[in-house]
Amino acid sequence: MLPPNSFKGKVVFITGGGTGIGRGLTTVFSSLGATCVIASRKIDVLKATAEEISSQTGNKVHAIQCDVRDPGMVKNAVSELIKIAGHPDVVINNAAGNFISLSERLSSNAWKTITDIVLNGTAYVTLEIGKELIKAEKGAAFLAITTIYAKSGSAFVVPSASAKAGVEIMSLSLAAEWSRYGMRFNVIQPGPIKTKGAFSRLDPTGEFEQEMIERLPCGRLGTVEEISNLAAFLCSDYASWINGSIIRFDGGEYVFLSGEFNSLMKVTTQQWDMLEQLIRKTES
Ligand code: HXC
Ligand code: NAP
Repeated sequence: MLPPNSFKGKVVFITGGGTGIGRGLTTVFSSLGATCVIASRKIDVLKATAEEISSQTGNKVHAIQCDVRDPGMVKNAVSELIKIAGHPDVVINNAAGNFISLSERLSSNAWKTITDIVLNGTAYVTLEIGKELIKAEKGAAFLAITTIYAKSGSAFVVPSASAKAGVEIMSLSLAAEWSRYGMRFNVIQPGPIKTKGAFSRLDPTGEFEQEMIERLPCGRLGTVEEISNLAAFLCSDYASWINGSIIRFDGGEYVFLSGEFNSLMKVTTQQWDMLEQLIRKTES
């Protein structure tokens, strides 16, 4: 956790801030003194989260209804954000849509729904806020939450993987172009973190959770608190020179699955003794 009041006087805008990871992000930024503004489709969920966090931290959390797929709604949400809280110092594109599916079962609307939320929604929010910040001559730290399969690709979540990869390239491109306006753009690529929103759509029966854990060399899923603390650091002045970075945050999953010899983890000490002897014998 950063020192108390690290975000005192700062405004933090978080899409999808009412649930799961977004709720965790809002809690941490609010605890550190920020005024948070959270936006998504379900205003009742947002309001309940805002009230709960605000009463816990003593700092104001505002809720704005916004479907990020709708550029008009995004424009209105950004005007409201500026009206009620001022220009944001931190912008987190966290909202997403996803489900596992055979790709041959995807309709064009299924594809459009996911890519509209993840890629276009992130673009509308970023462009709308970016333009306002440029006009106001104010910098900000932008953060996007993607996923480790934005790099590797993944079966059965093809629209999400494609859209998240687009979000990463958008962040890197704007890190180059808008640094001159004092804006920074970074990305966190999380591995699996148990939230209702994600797990109900990616593991609806619950039977893959153990498999997911077995793919993690640290032997456990990530937590909302862990990602929220990393996000707070990346968006704080302590990280002011971090720009255009993609931080993998997966308990070692990516390297564990890709390393050529990692499956030798199952070899016992006795077997290693035997293997060593064989290798030494061929050397002599
Ligand atoms: C195939 C499906 C489907 C499914 C929906 N569709 N679910 N197709 N398999 N399981 C199709 C529908 O038939 C429809 O196409 C189109 O997708 C839109 O569906 P709607 O239900 O009308 O969409 P909507 O009400 O807008 O809801 C969007 C949603 C929903 C994405 C489908 O799940 C949602 O609201 N999700 C938000 C939260 C979320 O997904 N969180 C998880 C994030 S986890 P047709 O052709 O019939 O009209 C994550 C990364 C995790 O992103 C990484 C882990 C490591
Ligand atoms: P979640 O609780 O389902 O969060 C998704 C959020 O997005 C919800 O608050 C939802 O709010 C909002 N949202 C969805 N569609 C929207 C739209 N059209 N407009 C505005 N907001 C919309 O799941 P989560 O696990 O916390 O996911 C948060 C982020 O982490 C996502 O970007 C996800 O891809 C990423 N991630 C999660 C995991 C994981 O294992 N949990 C791993 C890697 C990456 P409404 O329903 O109110 O709109």
